[in-house]
Amino acid sequence: MDAEREAVGVVGVGWVGLVTATCFAELGHPIVALDVNEEKVESLRRGEVTIHEPGLAELLEKNSERITFTTSMGEVLAATRILFCCVDTPPTYSGDADLSRVRSVVAQIPEGSEHALVMKSTVPSGTGASIRRDKPDLRYVSCPEFLKEGSAIEDFMHPDRVVVGVDEGSEEAADAVERLYQPLGGEMVRTDVASAEMIKLASNAFLATKISFINEIANVCEQTGADVIEVARGMGLDERIGASFLRAGIGYGGSCFPKDVSALKQLAGNSGYHFQLLNAVIEVNELQKRRVIAKLEKHLGSLADKRIALLGLAFKPDTDDMREASSLVLSARLQGEGAEVVAYDPVAEESAASMLPDVEMASSATAALEGADAAVLVTEWPEFSELDWAMVRESMASPVLIDGRNYLDSDALRAAGFVYDGIGRPDPPDGT
Ligand code: UDX
Repeated sequence: MDAEREAVGVVGVGWVGLVTATCFAELGHPIVALDVNEEKVESLRRGEVTIHEPGLAELLEKNSERITFTTSMGEVLAATRILFCCVDTPPTYSGDADLSRVRSVVAQIPEGSEHALVMKSTVPSGTGASIRRDKPDLRYVSCPEFLKEGSAIEDFMHPDRVVVGVDEGSEEAADAVERLYQPLGGEMVRTDVASAEMIKLASNAFLATKISFINEIANVCEQTGADVIEVARGMGLDERIGASFLRAGIGYGGSCFPKDVSALKQLAGNSGYHFQLLNAVIEVNELQKRRVIAKLEKHLGSLADKRIALLGLAFKPDTDDMREASSLVLSARLQGEGAEVVAYDPVAEESAASMLPDVEMASSATAALEGADAAVLVTEWPEFSELDWAMVRESMASPVLIDGRNYLDSDALRAAGFVYDGIGRPDPPDGT
């Protein structure tokens, strides 16, 4: 297999699939990308990108000659021998991963064919083994993705590591996958399939654990007068700990961490092991989203009939993704306390409006803040740090701000006359 001109198939053109297809095209490979959603295929053929990912639309346009979008598996099989499976594996009610789309892709690969299936979808450990049990001749490689929303292209093009999981009989396919990623220069982790699958789940679960840990430290800081930002700075200089993912806030969200943490917990449970740590990680995260309520009550008393402005709704900046966003739980809790909720998000308004029908969507941050009894910074969009807080103070009913991401300049806010309350940040010396 000559990696240089190797054509690559991508099955499932959601966020992972579209980034994978576009980046391999950028590396010079002809791409045939399949999705069952005809409408999506049509819009992608017109060059319309359906997701918010910085730089993706431009890179897709630049490489449009090399990418063929299709709904026909036959077309993919005819033109390519390496197929990346990037279909969704959403959680079922039990927390297990729904593998029905993965199994449908496997079923469409002809028995005994030369095609190699490269699993990029996040699947529980053991999935590869069970697929090969059903289809022993299938060339199967596990190659999990570690892309972050909002920086996916950068993450693809500059990977820390590329994990290539292979079992006996698929070595040639694994070699071909390694050749595809060689130009990117990440550390190549060649291992067995089950371990590759576990690397993905364990990595996400560990990052989620790190976030829940620093959130608990933040909660203790609030009792002891320490400043979590200082604590994280001191911790992070120890290379065994590392500074990244030590930002305290109102909880992690998104399509990956919540799903993968519960999938790993479920996987352990299914094999008779009680993964206590992950129970705590999940519980801490859920409680962290709700701690804002007590902070608001501390400053406002009862929240009944109070108008609370939410700054940001997406689970993090640079995405329109609302999946498991902390704003969902927070706005519901606020309404449960009888508060009126108004919100603004620069990008996620459309997806948020359908998920938060009872939340008033404002057209700008200043519009959301006008007349509000308090504001909560939920997503750290850069535009919020550029607001004229002295002017905002004039427009609000009472200048109370809960900084759910410790993102804003507390001194500047206080100087502008705000009651500023962060996550794990000390009160000002004079208690104002
Ligand atoms: C994550 C993983 O980072 C990525 O490797 C994997 O492939 C997919 O899942 P993503 O979900 O895009 O990526 O978001 P990420 O940037 O990891 O943030 C996840 C959540 O954690 C967000 O809600 C973010 O606000 C929160 N977070 C992140 C913190 O609360 N504190 C931090 O220090 C970092």
